[in-house]
Amino acid sequence: MKKAKIYTILSIETSCDESALSVVQMSGNASNFTFKVLSNVVVSQIEIHQEYGGVFPAIAKREHEKALPILLEKVLKESKIKKPDFIAVTYGPGLEPALWVGINFARAYADIWQVPLVPVNHMEGHLLSSYISNTENRKIELNKNLKINRIKFPILSLLVSGGHTELVVAKKIGLYKKIGQTLDDAVGEAFDKVARMIGLPYPGGPEIAKLAQNHHPLPPPQQGRGGIQEIHFPRPMMHSKNYNFSYSGLKTSVLYTIRDLKIKNPKILEDKNSNEIKSQIAHEFQNSAIEVLVHKTMRAIMEYKIKTLLVGGGVANNKYLQNELTKSCKKHNENIILHFPQKDFSTDNSLMIALAGYFNFLKNKKGVDLNKIKADGNLSL
Ligand code: KG4
Ligand code: ZN
Repeated sequence: MKKAKIYTILSIETSCDESALSVVQMSGNASNFTFKVLSNVVVSQIEIHQEYGGVFPAIAKREHEKALPILLEKVLKESKIKKPDFIAVTYGPGLEPALWVGINFARAYADIWQVPLVPVNHMEGHLLSSYISNTENRKIELNKNLKINRIKFPILSLLVSGGHTELVVAKKIGLYKKIGQTLDDAVGEAFDKVARMIGLPYPGGPEIAKLAQNHHPLPPPQQGRGGIQEIHFPRPMMHSKNYNFSYSGLKTSVLYTIRDLKIKNPKILEDKNSNEIKSQIAHEFQNSAIEVLVHKTMRAIMEYKIKTLLVGGGVANNKYLQNELTKSCKKHNENIILHFPQKDFSTDNSLMIALAGYFNFLKNKKGVDLNKIKADGNLSL
């Protein structure tokens, strides 16, 4: 039997505040393939943006420009390759000034090396990111075929990050239908903003999740004892007939609750008992944000007769979300396949760009005209 050709891919991701480059080798087709990482580097700008409580496009652009040449040298050296068979680069969605840095860099090298350039939708990367996992420890192992997880179509993808909250149905790889999305803030963005309101650093998701664990609500008959009143936030759009989400009302509700608490005690978020109230806010906010996600995901699973649920994006790291989805899927149907991405695949990374890029490359093995590729900040699946 003829051996399948192995393609070496250089992938580049610069859509937000992570500069990421990898060299990956893949072979086979979408239903039977191998994935081996030769080198994978990520430089996060989080500490630089932390001061501002969010990501600043001009600063992100400058930092990507500084990082890419150094990272390229590193991955070429580590992977011991002279040049890849093709380059995959994120062209949207994201911050356009940041996306352009990756695109221009990729374009220059595609020209120098005379190899195809494949533009990749960042969200397709997140969608596919739990298709692959590591076999043993949780860190990505180099020079070893990684585990390809079992999937069955149709797939439902729940994409939850700092910029997106979407439900997408996939009949096969490359054939996507977005069935719902947030009408305002993304769920990760709401975590970040609520974290800021209670004095936690950016990114706020992991901080809120940690704090929420410290709160153990009293059962209803005991509530109100010792002056502790359980806080309640709404579950926005939970029972709306569509698959859309809204997180800005929930965020405002947290803001008003804090304002009312401060009227009673201006130092409530600073004094010695402040951790208790902060934990309570974090706990109820997380419950509310996640409950809506789980409820709508489960409804979509039933309506579209979904066989596999793939979760992607930074918020996929949230343990409460993972537990609730696992429980609900089991309850609904034992046979539903459910995958969450491993840490290295969940936050922004270039491994998922190599993966999505490979399936796109297979369509014509040519890539695109170097003069036609453009950043698209609002690109959609
Ligand atoms: O996918 P990602 O790395 O970047 C993009 O937004 O594309 O996602 C980052 C988001 C941030 O909003 C961060 O607060 C959130 O994911 N996040 C979490 C958790 N870990 C990261 N949100 C809730 N719980 C977590 N454990
Ligand atoms: Zn992302």
